[in-house]
Amino acid sequence: MAFTVAIDGPAAAGKGTIARSVAAHFGFSHLDTGLLYRATGARMLDGEDPAPAAWALVPEDLERDGLRSAAVAEAASVVAAMPEVRAGLLAFQRRFARLGDGAVLDGRDIGTVICPEAEVKLFVTATPETRAARRFAELRAAGAETTLAEVLADVQARDARDAGRDAAPLMAAPDAVHIDTTALGIDEAVAAAVAVVERAR
Ligand code: C5P
Repeated sequence: MAFTVAIDGPAAAGKGTIARSVAAHFGFSHLDTGLLYRATGARMLDGEDPAPAAWALVPEDLERDGLRSAAVAEAASVVAAMPEVRAGLLAFQRRFARLGDGAVLDGRDIGTVICPEAEVKLFVTATPETRAARRFAELRAAGAETTLAEVLADVQARDARDAGRDAAPLMAAPDAVHIDTTALGIDEAVAAAVAVVERAR
């Protein structure tokens, strides 16, 4: 029987790390759904029309260089507000969620739109300052030239766009378990998530 773990939350709250670790712990597959929007955003930056590009994504699109850049993140949140883009990416995500023994999907609308029937729903948050500091450290480690103030402004702009849009806005499902990672280390955050999944199995 397939078992789905839906993990949502704003940028740099720790969803990705938690999702990967939970998947590894239980032997489930993992889909970072943000990559689908980033790949579509990258194709828009190449000059393509985003909606047809979303419907036509191929696995190689998810392996392109530069998908983690700030420019592609920005483009991703622009295309993510387009209902036709979201429609194009829906079936792939729903099928992935029911693959094999279990699947972990992380994104913005997994518990609300993609998998409202998920066995476990988590909503992972942290303060904007904490999230910006984490993203800043990642970007600097990757060699990007940026400032903390710039990263905080980007994080806040992306939050506002993701939460304020009409199409599948970022929000917690009513039955989601909230995990605030502001004061938690990675191991503590992962342990909290694993405990929620254990209880539901
Ligand atoms: O999670 P990540 O930062 O990679 O997501 C990039 C952008 O893709 C987000 O800012 C959001 O606009 C969009 N997204 C979304 N729904 C998802 C995952 C990502 O709208 N399920």
